[in-house]
Amino acid sequence: MRKTGAKNEREFKKLRTRAEEFLHKRSEDSRTSPVENVQKLIQELHVHQVELEMQNEELRNAQTELAESRDKYFDLYDFAPIGYFTLDEKGLILEVNLTGADLLGSDRAALIKKVFSRFVAPGSQDAYYSHRKQAIETGTKQVSEIELKRKNGQSSHAQIQSVAVQENEGNTIRLRTAVVDITERKRAEMALLAAHSHLEKKIEERTADLLTNNAQLHQEIERRTLVEQALKGSEMELHLLTSRLLTIQEDERKAIALDLHDTITQNLVAIRMFVETKLRAMPDDSQTGVSLERIYSMIGECIAELRRIVDHLRPSILDDLGVIIAVNRLCEEFQEMNHELSVEHEVAVKEKEIPEGLKIVIYRILQEALNNVSKHSEASNVKISLRKIESRIELVIKDDGAGFDAEDKRTQGLGKGIGLTSMKERAYLSGGSISIQSRKGLGTAVMASWNY
Ligand SMILES: Nc1ncnc2c1ncn2[C@@H]1O[C@H](COP(=O)(O)OP(=O)(O)OP(=O)(O)O)[C@@H](O)[C@H]1O
Ligand SMILES: [Mg+2]
Repeated sequence: MRKTGAKNEREFKKLRTRAEEFLHKRSEDSRTSPVENVQKLIQELHVHQVELEMQNEELRNAQTELAESRDKYFDLYDFAPIGYFTLDEKGLILEVNLTGADLLGSDRAALIKKVFSRFVAPGSQDAYYSHRKQAIETGTKQVSEIELKRKNGQSSHAQIQSVAVQENEGNTIRLRTAVVDITERKRAEMALLAAHSHLEKKIEERTADLLTNNAQLHQEIERRTLVEQALKGSEMELHLLTSRLLTIQEDERKAIALDLHDTITQNLVAIRMFVETKLRAMPDDSQTGVSLERIYSMIGECIAELRRIVDHLRPSILDDLGVIIAVNRLCEEFQEMNHELSVEHEVAVKEKEIPEGLKIVIYRILQEALNNVSKHSEASNVKISLRKIESRIELVIKDDGAGFDAEDKRTQGLGKGIGLTSMKERAYLSGGSISIQSRKGLGTAVMASWNY
């Protein structure tokens, strides 16, 4: 450790005391001793002189080191990256480093004895005042952010940290204030804030857009729901209409069948009987008789044809003999009228197992399906089955003909035939289900079923 200040002084005192003691002792000795004693004394004095010179040298070195370290301290103080101020109790600047002076845009010398608040922007005066007051009153470190106004009018942002210290054995209070330039940070903060508020604005706009879109979507959903409801309503109406149509059709057919039966058929029967009576009265070789015979058989054909039509319109066979016989008869007649076709039919259900109301439905679906086979299919084989499988009654008409695109709605609907639609409606209205499967070149299968 180097000897400095008071320590050096103590060493000199010690040295001086020793030298005085030594001289005192030598003067006593010189009274009693001869010349050698004087020489010895001179010798020792030389030694002391050298010793003193060495100590002088050491002192000079210590002084130089002291000066160097003081310079270093001032360098560090002056060129520190933050400003340091020493203020008195009233806020007068007593000391300031170069960085601090630079922060205020002034010469260091010009700042001494100036109030620091002179360089505080008006908007930050209150904050600075309470900062200083708090530091002095509480004795704790205070940190604040204020706006500074440089000498040339430029403003900057600074963070100030102040601690109050006592000097002069507590009689004087000083404030050590460190000032950090935070202008760049503030600028970045402002930019960040601006970016943030811009972003928030964008988010608000986007949210507003989304809300509008959402509202529009809701409106659209509501509109569609209403349309869907209206559509369902229309569908229901259509079903009701179709059902009414089918009932009217059945009633009309029945009425026409009755009319035909009661009027034309009865009249024809009466005419045939009249012709028959006339024929009997004719001689066998009569030419008129031959003509009458022809008329008689033509009337018979007409009556048979009329009966077939009447039957077709309202199959009395259903009421008279039941659906099983009616289905068998229909299949047989179909075979008779379509010689080129091989017709197979199977009935595996008992008459009493088929509910009364279902009989006309089964009959009409079979009638329409067979009509379609003969009109459109050009099939070689057709298989018909009416069966009861567990609690299900099932009617299937399957052909191996040309088929059609059953998914193509253009084959049905307005301006087209109503056969397929009426089959579906009849099945639906009677509580059953129907599937019409067909593909071009792969034949057609009509499958209707009812659960009981
Ligand atoms: N078994 C089938 N084979 C081939 N094509 C068929 C068959 N059944 C129906 N089609 C096709 O489906 C169309 C619709 O049949 P649908 O019974 O509805 O009408 P239609 O027979 O033409 O007329 P309508 O039955 O009203 O007298 C037919 O025009 C035909 O092209
Ligand atoms: Mg048809």
